[in-house]
Amino acid sequence: MTGYEPILTKHLGQPGSATLAYYLSNEGYKAARSAVRDMDRSQIIQTVKESGLQGRGGAGFPAGVKWSFIPQNSKKPKYLINNADEGEPGTFKDRLLINHNPHQVIEGMIIAAKAIDCHLAFIYIRGEFVKEARVLETALDECYNNKILGKGIFNSKYNLDIIVHRGAGAYICGEETGLIESLEGKRGWPRIKPPFPAIEGYLGCPTVVNNVETLANVPHIIANGGQWFRGIGANPESPGPKLYCVSGHVKKPGVYEGPCGTELTTIIYDWAGGIRDDNKLKAVIPGGSSSPVLKANEIDGLKMDFPSVQAAGSMFGSAGIIVMDETTDMVQACYNLARFYAHESCGQCTPCREGTTWLIKILDRFTKGQGRQEDIDLMLDVTDNIGGLIDLSYGSFGKTICPFGEAVSWPVRAMVEKFRPEFESYLTEKVTG
Ligand SMILES: Cc1cc2nc3c(=O)[nH]c(=O)nc-3n(C[C@H](O)[C@H](O)[C@H](O)COP(=O)(O)O)c2cc1C
Ligand code: SF4
Repeated sequence: MTGYEPILTKHLGQPGSATLAYYLSNEGYKAARSAVRDMDRSQIIQTVKESGLQGRGGAGFPAGVKWSFIPQNSKKPKYLINNADEGEPGTFKDRLLINHNPHQVIEGMIIAAKAIDCHLAFIYIRGEFVKEARVLETALDECYNNKILGKGIFNSKYNLDIIVHRGAGAYICGEETGLIESLEGKRGWPRIKPPFPAIEGYLGCPTVVNNVETLANVPHIIANGGQWFRGIGANPESPGPKLYCVSGHVKKPGVYEGPCGTELTTIIYDWAGGIRDDNKLKAVIPGGSSSPVLKANEIDGLKMDFPSVQAAGSMFGSAGIIVMDETTDMVQACYNLARFYAHESCGQCTPCREGTTWLIKILDRFTKGQGRQEDIDLMLDVTDNIGGLIDLSYGSFGKTICPFGEAVSWPVRAMVEKFRPEFESYLTEKVTG
């Protein structure tokens, strides 16, 4: 991390870092105060556009551009939803930001809300995050008691309320339209897009959904300017500070902050201490479980930003880096992954509902030594029919209502294609209980 000073996690571990008093004594809410009192909506949006901030929830959509889609002449109320569902396996950064510095996240929400003329915002938090929900409630109470939320915030004419809404623990409720359905009190079934939430979101009104980490970046952009942010990292097209979650077979798993564009090998070997027991690296999932696996020989020199990881045939996603050493059984890893997706499919679309179940049936017989030679190509065929070929251009999307279809089929396909001999060996050699 030479020369890089943490921005998002600067106060992590300091006593009282979650309190308003601590936050205010460290320049807290200065950016929100100036955004609310001195900036108009277009100035805020322009600054965030200039920064190049891309969504940290997985898809990397530019935040300022998303905010600009909200139709300002619409008479309907506008809503902001902070997506704190964080269900992607391998991803555990948002809860850290909330636990240690909830006011940074709330400040980002106030600025985003002002930018889209929203007066009621939500934090949709995963049901299991009981502690985090309490931390947020406490922080919001502190804000209400200090005129940072409520009516006439920062002694302006601007009103804003924020409500914490606890989900019930379904991965699909992290997908923005499933989330909106759930927030409306319905089953978390994703909606067909278009219309996108910016036009018809919560209660049919214009809505922005942003990830926790995305919003945590916003106060720093307003305080330091868009150009400052764009200068952080290796690539001005995909800039900014980034939280990398490292799990799996490393010596020091955890969340590491560094600039976008940090080399994956630096994160794994220098920050996370290298591979456990000094084993050889076998493969890495770079961006949470939905991203296609990369083999050890594909990560040399790979920079961790949206375009670079895409060019390498995978996805930057949520930067949930799952490291697998030489002892990893890829068939079991694939089975494990497929079981998660089959369990979490919401069941609306036939290719996803039936396809995920079919995949685990095939993988189940593989692990029991009952696999058939034709099963390997059958798995590839099933993944193609759920989510299309691994082609990260937008044209390949669209066989299912939501991108969950791609999220299951791309990683399974990559594992089968890249480690085919291991699957074949199960036909002749390996049988587990
Ligand atoms: C199956 C699925 C699960 C998702 N889970 C999350 C999640 O837990 N948190 C999140 O921020 N985004 C998640 N997303 C992405 C959201 O749909 C949405 O793109 C994101 O919240 C937008 O915020 P951003 O632009 O700030 O990244 C998920 C997407 C899919 C398809
Ligand atoms: S792709 Fe899967 S998770 Fe998404 S709407 Fe269809 S069935 Fe539900």
